[in-house]
Amino acid sequence: MRAPGPDQTQLETLLTIASRVPDHGKLAPWRFIVASGEARKKLADALWEARKADFDPDDVARLTEERTKLSDAPTLVVVVSQAAPHEKIPEWEQVLSAGAVCLNLVTAALAMGYGASWLTGWSAYDERARETLGVADGEKVAGIIYIGTFDMAPTDRPRPALADIVTAWQGG
Ligand SMILES: Cc1cc2nc3c(=O)[nH]c(=O)nc-3n(C[C@H](O)[C@H](O)[C@H](O)COP(=O)(O)O)c2cc1C
Repeated sequence: MRAPGPDQTQLETLLTIASRVPDHGKLAPWRFIVASGEARKKLADALWEARKADFDPDDVARLTEERTKLSDAPTLVVVVSQAAPHEKIPEWEQVLSAGAVCLNLVTAALAMGYGASWLTGWSAYDERARETLGVADGEKVAGIIYIGTFDMAPTDRPRPALADIVTAWQGG
């Protein structure tokens, strides 16, 4: 993934679209952390530093690839789920809403002509990475959405056959 990515106005449009999702109880149980331009390079470096301490030498190639991916994507949007127990709204539904935010953002970026990927990986789960990103206790990373320009159209992959995932309800 390479530049260009969305400019500030486009990014605001994308985040506006991303936040227009079904949201039972209108809790907005999610938020965004954005790193664009120089900030995403600094973020990639900071995450690398956080991880370097316990490098498995066998992992260096994979880790380097992860760092390159982070620093090459013009814009990174961390979608943070703030789902929590609530008297009326199941936490599960709040989590689903954060998933909808991620997919809305990917779809909106693709519709705007950019490439976009929904990834997580180490940066989403490691405590040091979460601290570096600014994710608070009780929050979860729903996705890190990479937005920029792809030189090649991504290849497709086999998708589930409807016959395997659809059943006709037979009555109670
Ligand atoms: C919550 C979530 C996290 C994901 N994290 C990763 C990841 O860390 N690495 C990865 O290769 N794909 C990850 N994926 C899958 C990609 O988003 C995507 O499905 C995959 O690259 C294949 O692309 P395609 O679905 O367009 O075929 C994740 C998907 C979801 C829903």
